Amino acid sequence: MDEQRLSSPEQLMEDGEEIFIRPRFFREYTGQEQTKENIEIFVKAALLRGEALDHVLLYGPPGLGKTTLASIIANELNVNIRITSGPAITRPGDLAAIISALDERDILFIDEIHRLNRAVEEVLYPAMEDYCIDIMTGKGPGAKSLRFALPPFTLIGATTQAGMLSAPLRDRFGVICRLEFYDEQELLTIIRRSARIFDVQLTEEGAVEISRRSRGTPRIANRLLRRLRDFAEVKGDGIISRDIADSALTMLGIDGNGLDIVDRKMMLALLEKYAGGPVGAESIAASISESLNTIEDVCEPYLMKIGFLQRTPRGRLATRLAWDYFGLEPPRGNAAADQGSIF
Ligand SMILES: Nc1ncnc2c1ncn2[C@@H]1O[C@H](COP(=O)(O)OP(=O)(O)OP(=O)(O)O)[C@@H](O)[C@H]1O
Ligand SMILES: [Mg+2]
Repeated sequence: MDEQRLSSPEQLMEDGEEIFIRPRFFREYTGQEQTKENIEIFVKAALLRGEALDHVLLYGPPGLGKTTLASIIANELNVNIRITSGPAITRPGDLAAIISALDERDILFIDEIHRLNRAVEEVLYPAMEDYCIDIMTGKGPGAKSLRFALPPFTLIGATTQAGMLSAPLRDRFGVICRLEFYDEQELLTIIRRSARIFDVQLTEEGAVEISRRSRGTPRIANRLLRRLRDFAEVKGDGIISRDIADSALTMLGIDGNGLDIVDRKMMLALLEKYAGGPVGAESIAASISESLNTIEDVCEPYLMKIGFLQRTPRGRLATRLAWDYFGLEPPRGNAAADQGSIF
């Protein structure tokens, strides 16, 4: 695997081991305090009333724990969870079949829910609102619409792009939560827990180094932990120290801020080719031969979080902080030079 994929927040083959460390209950799920607190209350209320939990929409960048949270909710409610994804459901009949097979209060989890097609989405509206499905029988003037009742269920939708959800669909979720990047302290807790489960030895400074370079993303923290264990075993005494972590991460192309090769390519294109912007994300993506998806879903949320990038109506703009970080001087009169950073 090459370096640029190693720090991808998206799921990779080697993350198969995730199943051993994925938290199963709220008490094991670190961070996202506000979201967790809200959802815990709704879960308790649903349990007390013996009703299905209201539909939940989880959105935010990849690897922050949307799927994990959905399965925790199912565990805490003591119900089944049926997992599928937007692109996997191609026909309205497929969705109707999945929903009618649910038991009362079960959870249907639809990942990448923004990629449901229109016809399928329309099956969801009455299913979410009135727990029923309308099925058309016959053709032409003899066509009839039959309504079937469904057991009360909970839909949990996940998306990296809340903006791409249609308004009628978004409006049918009672609970909408945005997952945030994790801070260093939260990542440290996650890293220590995973290290215990994987029986990896690391020093306090080693753990801090990993947490600082994981782009605020648990999936990356866990992956780097496993990868650094290999380095420590081959190059050291098996213990991940600060030095081992630093040299291995640098060798893997991950810099002190957790930026990887793609982030740096994107920032350098913006700074050098487009004089700091503003420029459209499509142009940046094309100029570094990356997909617009990677740029928008993966690079930009983190670059904005650390204050290197701003989204303006006229396009992407590099901040003063970014110019400084890359040791470059903005051209005179450059927009970003006066903007400062968002820190
Ligand atoms: N709050 C958390 N505490 C501890 N570990 C976490 C937490 N959130 C996520 N993780 C770890 O990170 C991994 C990735 O999380 P998850 O698969 O839930 O992300 P996701 O948001 O669904 O990503 P994607 O958008 O790619 O589907 C999990 O397997 C889990 O081990
Ligand atoms: Mg997921």
